[in-house]
Amino acid sequence: MKKILCIGAGYVGGPTMAVIAKHCPELEIVCVDINEDRIRAWQSDDLPIYEPGLLDVVQQVRGKNLFFSTDIVGNIPDADLIFVSVNTPTKTFGQGAGRAADLQYWEKTARQILQYSRSDTIVVEKSTLPVRTAEAMHRILDSRSSGPKFEVLSNPEFLAEGTAIADLESPDRVLIGGPTTPAGQKAVEALAAIYRHWVPAEKILTTNVWSSEMSKLAANAFLAQRVSSINSLSALCEATDADITEVSRALGMDRRIGGRFLQAGVGFGGSCFKKDILNLVYLCEHYGLHEVGAYWQMVVEINHYQQRRFVHRMIQSMFNTLAGKRIAIFGFAFKAHTSDTRESPGIEICRELVEEHAQVVIHDPKALENAAKDLHDLPQKQLVFESDPYRAAEGAHAIALLTDWPQFQTLDYRRIFQSMVQPAFLFDGRNLLNHADLFEIGFNVYSIGKRPLSHLD
Ligand SMILES: NC(=O)c1ccc[n+]([C@@H]2O[C@H](COP(=O)([O-])OP(=O)(O)OC[C@H]3O[C@@H](n4cnc5c(N)ncnc54)[C@H](O)[C@@H]3O)[C@@H](O)[C@H]2O)c1
Repeated sequence: MKKILCIGAGYVGGPTMAVIAKHCPELEIVCVDINEDRIRAWQSDDLPIYEPGLLDVVQQVRGKNLFFSTDIVGNIPDADLIFVSVNTPTKTFGQGAGRAADLQYWEKTARQILQYSRSDTIVVEKSTLPVRTAEAMHRILDSRSSGPKFEVLSNPEFLAEGTAIADLESPDRVLIGGPTTPAGQKAVEALAAIYRHWVPAEKILTTNVWSSEMSKLAANAFLAQRVSSINSLSALCEATDADITEVSRALGMDRRIGGRFLQAGVGFGGSCFKKDILNLVYLCEHYGLHEVGAYWQMVVEINHYQQRRFVHRMIQSMFNTLAGKRIAIFGFAFKAHTSDTRESPGIEICRELVEEHAQVVIHDPKALENAAKDLHDLPQKQLVFESDPYRAAEGAHAIALLTDWPQFQTLDYRRIFQSMVQPAFLFDGRNLLNHADLFEIGFNVYSIGKRPLSHLD
């Protein structure tokens, strides 16, 4: 094995290849993309994505054994192994629209590999795909009677944005699904050998291709389900005066349940959870498993419900109207430590606020550029993008905190309160702040799954 190619230089392709390059100096790794701007950014120190620690790793290997390029076809012929990590969004047209995965980028890549490969090649699906996609890819690659032979493996990526480098450096597990044939097993071993440069052998799991594809969808569905489960209970807490933080703590101390992914909030976002669950639902329906599909569909429904509920509570508590009111949004990224806003709850919430004729001032430490893109179709006179949280809050009737950026915890809320229109409201959509302190300062504090702390009752 000498040369690795990665097709798709996004949130997965870029960081994954950088970490492989760091640990495998003997390999030449080229990361390609059709998006010229992205490649140019990867070649600079202004990387196309923000991820803690990423720039450091890229600087260690770029130009040595990691290269970024737009020349896709020129890099295919001599690649021994090709990772495919192109995007696989939800289909927006035709059959399965809104649910099935859109596999057009994926299939185009398969056909390019078939056309330009000159020697036997291992093709690795890194993108998250519906179960049995690797088989379809194998059929495409196997469609010629002569020429190079291909082995198709599934090696889903489990990194989480915001902690991608730490996750790649020390993964809970690496999953490799491959055909059970001798050639398939040889390919699995070749890929496992790359990971063994830094991942302990016992953490490298090998399965059949379908189990590997299924495990990735299932892992995301389980994680999202925990978020929707605790969020559904947050609604009940608000109705009953139970406190969701206390409930989460009590639940999490049960070792059978565990404490992670039990924080109530405005809901999950990110490019993967919703897309992968919808994918799972579509698969269930395809196989006639309607009850199973309906079960997982509810995880997505509860997530929307939680966002609508949040806005509803804002309207209700602010005297049933937001029209003309200035609302400062603290955080637009779908979670802390990333600039990614794909499927962020902020998108839906800001859209609803604009629909209520509010004046929405968005502040985020890293995601303002993406926020502006996400909301470009809204009336711009109702939107302000503000890099300074104090200026965002100045003259505002309310603050809505939507992302758990830790720096929001150390702002001077007394100063912020004094600059706001009274009575000042604070809606903590991540239960991140010290609510008792804020109440004492004078805020009317609304959080998730807790009794409001209001001076108006
Ligand atoms: N983002 C995550 O946290 C994460 C985690 C695990 C798995 N995944 C999965 O990995 C896959 C990629 O996700 P991402 O977040 O990196 O997406 P992304 O959109 O950031 O990156 C995909 C890249 O592929 C490029 N591309 C598309 N078609 C191409 C083609 N024909 N040739 C060359 N490049 C092409 C796009 O220009 C884009 O830069 C998805 O299937 C996703 O579900 C994502």
